[in-house]
Amino acid sequence: MGKIEEIINQIKRLKKEKNAIILGHNYMDYSIQLVSDFTGDSYDLALKAMKTNTDIIVFAGVYFMAEQASALNPDKKVLSPDPNAGCSLSDSLDVKTLKQYKEMYPHAPIVLYINTSIYVKALADYIVTSSTAVKVVQKLNANTILFGPDANLANYIQQKVPHKRIIKVPPNGRCVVHANYTRQLVELARRKYPNAILISHPESPLEVLEASDFVGSTNQMIQYAKQSPYNEFIVATEIGMINALQINVPNKRFYPLVTTEACACARCPYMNMITLEKVKKSLEEEIYEVKVPQEIAQKAKEAFERTVKLLE
Ligand code: 13P
Ligand code: SF4
Repeated sequence: MGKIEEIINQIKRLKKEKNAIILGHNYMDYSIQLVSDFTGDSYDLALKAMKTNTDIIVFAGVYFMAEQASALNPDKKVLSPDPNAGCSLSDSLDVKTLKQYKEMYPHAPIVLYINTSIYVKALADYIVTSSTAVKVVQKLNANTILFGPDANLANYIQQKVPHKRIIKVPPNGRCVVHANYTRQLVELARRKYPNAILISHPESPLEVLEASDFVGSTNQMIQYAKQSPYNEFIVATEIGMINALQINVPNKRFYPLVTTEACACARCPYMNMITLEKVKKSLEEEIYEVKVPQEIAQKAKEAFERTVKLLE
């Protein structure tokens, strides 16, 4: 038996012994997807975290995702395989800045992308994801909305909901992966793969989204590729997604807009910190438990539940 197979078997045994589940984001390495009970996008995984009845949740994703799962499940032990796995978007908005904007626009609802720290989320009225952001803004009974921290997603929402005013908080929050995509890269890829269509994540710059055939969250990309009449796709998102697409849609072909050979930026440095070994260690030693102060967790939970209700 190879080393990876051995670790996979150990993780599966530990999960049973400890009554644990592993939630794995779509960007995770293939080996982690093999031990995950559920893989999905950030919205789907947050909903799964809300519904689980196991004692332990290991969140194989970046830290804000584990924090969100912990806030939704204050009675459960939520473990992060590496608490240093941050997110450039989450790092771009702090409590002080958000409070300043709130003072400037006291009547505007605060709609925050899930890629934020739990302390920032505790100030939100609504917490959205790439799959829900446009719908939520459309449904809100308000004409001016504070939205952060992703400026690209804010531009996309503004384009889809032109009659409302989206104020970016901060003005320039960016994902270190998607910020690198350009129209020029799209043109090169289209020349290289003339039969492929372009599917993009809304964290990409507007010039890329405007050139795309489909825009959606990581889960929505899988659904779209499954039912699309096309067989080849250029994928404008983090390169781990190629694995998830290939696993879920095995009869079609997927090409990354940017490869790791062309630029290390194709892979999210934070998602990359979550390894199979760290997942095992986390479950075995029950480290690193994510602890969110009760009052903060409660506020973030309420904002998320309010959002889920709005979407029903
Ligand atoms: P999804 O919600 O589409 O999975 O995206 C999360 C993310 O961090 C994208 O970079
Ligand atoms: Fe954050 Fe970008 Fe990494 Fe997603 S891909 S976790 S938005 S840095």
